[in-house]
Amino acid sequence: MSELQTATVPGDSAYQYASPLFIAWQLNSECNLNCLHCCEEAGTSFPDQLNKDQMLNICRQFAEAEIPYVALSGGEPLLCPHFWDVCGFLRSRGIDVKIETNGEMIDPATAVRLARLKLRSVQISLDGASQKAHEALRERGDWRKVINACKLLRAQEGVNTEIVFVPTSFNIHEVGAAIDLAASLNAHGFYTGKLMRIGRAARNWEKLCPTDKQYQDFFEVLDKKKEQYKGRMKVYCYPYDVIEELRYRLTTPSASLLVLPNGKVKLIGPLPFICGDLRVMSLAEVWEKYKQSWRDPRVLEFGRSVVAQPALVAKANDWIEL
Ligand SMILES: C[S@@+](CC[C@H](N)C(=O)[O-])C[C@H]1O[C@@H](n2cnc3c(N)ncnc32)[C@H](O)[C@@H]1O
Repeated sequence: MSELQTATVPGDSAYQYASPLFIAWQLNSECNLNCLHCCEEAGTSFPDQLNKDQMLNICRQFAEAEIPYVALSGGEPLLCPHFWDVCGFLRSRGIDVKIETNGEMIDPATAVRLARLKLRSVQISLDGASQKAHEALRERGDWRKVINACKLLRAQEGVNTEIVFVPTSFNIHEVGAAIDLAASLNAHGFYTGKLMRIGRAARNWEKLCPTDKQYQDFFEVLDKKKEQYKGRMKVYCYPYDVIEELRYRLTTPSASLLVLPNGKVKLIGPLPFICGDLRVMSLAEVWEKYKQSWRDPRVLEFGRSVVAQPALVAKANDWIEL
């Protein structure tokens, strides 16, 4: 899940590193679903989406810079025509890869192909213990296909399946049952964290945002389930909401980059700033620009305004080129 799982360890500052420790790469924007909470507002392709050569050129630079870990997301990454080329290239160079998918395209052959890649993990979005809650939130989604995808991956040797659950008023009450379901599917981990007010989630905020009481109950259930599954399945809740993380990042930028489907690089999910373009700049140039951009008065001023008025995070997808 973009920000929830992608954040590097607090304390890692970009300024300590000659190249990023982690890349979150949205391979495409195309998606088969229309999730009410989608932070990326995924649906249709970008007109200037990267082609295969451009993607592989970026992969080569990741390898040369010895980037240890890349997460491939979207849109729905399994709909990207170059997904397998990108994944295969990165793995052939020893880079750890996680994929973030809605799971609906995982049939038996895809499960075998994914297993052969020896990925760090396959992260599957499951937003309900019940079909009703999951499909209410994930429009056009098919809960049964997601469950089946988990079973197909379970049947493969060495696939590390992680379930991601995003709490909203539609499904937050099902978190305990969703954790039990993940365990019954032999998931290696269950990951969650607060809903981010970005993209379609911002537009549907009144409808989706859980109440304080609902969040309180949610965290209590998580604490109990963490204990219950200790040693069997990791139950993890990203402790910061998007605003808390932003406040921290304004002084300590993470050692990571967020690459969009057209090769542009965003400073961080909740801010609208674009700090580079991998179609025309090298990774090294983008990395330097990223570090400088966190000291740019426009970024600091807008970032502080977002922290003071969290509703401004709704502007995160109205990009501003630095
Ligand atoms: C944008 S999706 C793209 C990958 C894939 N199509 C999927 O549905 O998992 C990546 C992750 O972000 C999560 N996500 C989407 N919108 C979110 C939001 N507003 N707050 C928190 N997580 C969100 C999804 O649940 C998913 O785990």
